[in-house]
Amino acid sequence: MSAVRDLTGGLRWHLRALLLRRRWRQTITHIAEWLATTRPASQTLLLIGGSAGWMMSDVWLQRFKQIHLIDIDPLAPHLFRLNHGRALRASGTQLNFIHMDGLAGLDALLAAHPEATIFFDNVLGQHVYRVHDFDQAEADLKRVVGSLQGRDWGSVHDVFSGPSDPMKVPPQPQQVFEVTRTAEGLSVEGLRDTALHLRLLAQVGGKDEWMDHVTSGVFPVGTTGRLIAWPFRPEYAHWLYAGWHGSLD
Ligand SMILES: C[S@@+](CC[C@H](N)C(=O)[O-])C[C@H]1O[C@@H](n2cnc3c(N)ncnc32)[C@H](O)[C@@H]1O
Repeated sequence: MSAVRDLTGGLRWHLRALLLRRRWRQTITHIAEWLATTRPASQTLLLIGGSAGWMMSDVWLQRFKQIHLIDIDPLAPHLFRLNHGRALRASGTQLNFIHMDGLAGLDALLAAHPEATIFFDNVLGQHVYRVHDFDQAEADLKRVVGSLQGRDWGSVHDVFSGPSDPMKVPPQPQQVFEVTRTAEGLSVEGLRDTALHLRLLAQVGGKDEWMDHVTSGVFPVGTTGRLIAWPFRPEYAHWLYAGWHGSLD
């Protein structure tokens, strides 16, 4: 994988998350509700791209005895402790920070923690921002998923994002859809491809050209999950895909 300028996290992410947290509250709640349906097989978690855990659920983290927070951002462990330290102390969960590229170094991480559950926390859809090449991002993600065979893992990641018009958001936008990864792509209520994209865009007032984060093929065929709207800024929205390749309620 190429080492390119990081546009995914860092100070800009932390400031945004701090300022926009109220706006993101519903998305954070939807992620927490979905996480509550997962049944991680291990009490050790590799949390890749966890950053400060701005969108992460305390209750879900408290399930684990040990969490290895893996991020390329050196600020991550300090801010993560500010956001989740109290909850982790209450549950006796140990937090260990590993400052590394968790995608390039995934095989080494998996070998060092053969029993751990792995969670990619809004990082796989960001990979294209690091490599600046859609084909390479897709190939890298395919390799990442190939390494995970036989492991208990999940991810929440961007699938699409783009400009939105707040005036076009319906009065009661549907923010969550049950989704299945089929051989032909993502399927929601029988909708696929363009019909699905139009349905999703209509819910968030999407307009103009949207970006495909090349993550539609990340989960193995048959994986169910949720598409969760993320009204990132008033004029820019994302759809996140939350999926678990392991036991669910
Ligand atoms: C969109 S932020 C999400 C942060 C986090 N999930 C949260 O809720 O605050 C993406 C994070 O992934 C990290 N990141 C991006 N690529 C990474 C990689 N290859 N390995 C480890 N961390 C990575 C960034 O530094 C950033 O902290």
